[in-house]
Amino acid sequence: MIYFDNAATTRVMPEVAEVVQKAMTETFGNPSSPYRLGLEAERLVRQARESVAAALGCQPDEVYFTSGGTEANNLAIRGTLQAKIRKGKHVVASAVEHAAVLETLKQLAQLDLCEYTLVPPDSKGRIAPEAVLDAVRDDTVLVTVMTVNNEVGTMQPVAEIARLVKERDPGVYFHSDAVQALGKTSCRLRELGVDLLTISGHKLGAPKGVGALYCREGVRIISQITGGGQEREMRSGTENVPGIAGFGKAITLALEQMEERTAQWRQLQKQLLALLKEIPDIQVLGDPLTNAPHILSVGFPGVRGEVLVHALAAEGLFVSTGSACSSRRDVTSHVLKAMGVAPQVSEGSIRISFGWENTIQEVERAAELIEQAVRELRRFQRY
Ligand SMILES: Cc1ncc(COP(=O)(O)O)c(C=O)c1O
Repeated sequence: MIYFDNAATTRVMPEVAEVVQKAMTETFGNPSSPYRLGLEAERLVRQARESVAAALGCQPDEVYFTSGGTEANNLAIRGTLQAKIRKGKHVVASAVEHAAVLETLKQLAQLDLCEYTLVPPDSKGRIAPEAVLDAVRDDTVLVTVMTVNNEVGTMQPVAEIARLVKERDPGVYFHSDAVQALGKTSCRLRELGVDLLTISGHKLGAPKGVGALYCREGVRIISQITGGGQEREMRSGTENVPGIAGFGKAITLALEQMEERTAQWRQLQKQLLALLKEIPDIQVLGDPLTNAPHILSVGFPGVRGEVLVHALAAEGLFVSTGSACSSRRDVTSHVLKAMGVAPQVSEGSIRISFGWENTIQEVERAAELIEQAVRELRRFQRY
């Protein structure tokens, strides 16, 4: 098996699995319980919070654990709109955000709880800082632009956008979805200058169902899950201690190994691209050289992306069409559409994404399989 779909999810790292198992079978107390078992579980959560804070360069108290990136994005958006109701209800977002942002805005707008402006990208998927600034109005309460796009890997100039927005109106909160950026590029908060940042565990070797929202000290948002008051009243519900402990371990490992891993991914990306370029009419989407190192998106006119994905899976190579989170809905990618990619290219596109385990031998084999599958499918479709 060659698993090249790490932007969808990753295998849990063995060191992380060990920590998770221990938290499930030994340190299984409720962190709110006052006796030893509870205190031990609370310590695991505290240590994980410190690891996340160390990775992001923030205070542990600015980290709120959630069930993942989707919940953190919802909390940032809904929590800001509710907290800033007196200022307005306008949100600016990039048109290439993940569904966890776009569908949330869509629902809130349908309920008349928000208005939003989507800023289109250029043909490489990049959002121009000035275009974001132009979309900001006096009643804007939130600007949200992702750090790395999950479909094509484009890195957005988040620090610059945040600076411009804050200069224009310090009362606007700035949020970034950094789910695909964490462990792949620097997410140091001092450099990014954001108020709110979303991260998720399962994209970097932690289990599914854990993530976090960074919320800068002094930034007030309204909690969306009320109850026992866990996570300092921000997110009630008994903590997912095994997931949180695993996330802490995974983020530490990812940061320790980031330089080595990103250099390896860049090499894999370059090599794969060089081999795939032999395929006639291949279209490279986005700008791989300045992209996040772990994602490569390519289109093959004359082939249907989902048919190609199935053909490759039958050979043991796992990749995805566009974003795995929306691919089952069988809709054309909103990201590629916003970038102005021709339908015959976007329909024949696949996303290849690397993780901590991948090797150059896998890249060589994958290139052969892709070349063969594209050739056969095109022959079948008389391309
Ligand atoms: C950019 C981005 N944001 C948010 C999410 C959702 O994160 P989670 O699966 O942890 O809910 C994903 C997952 O694919 C993503 O790629």
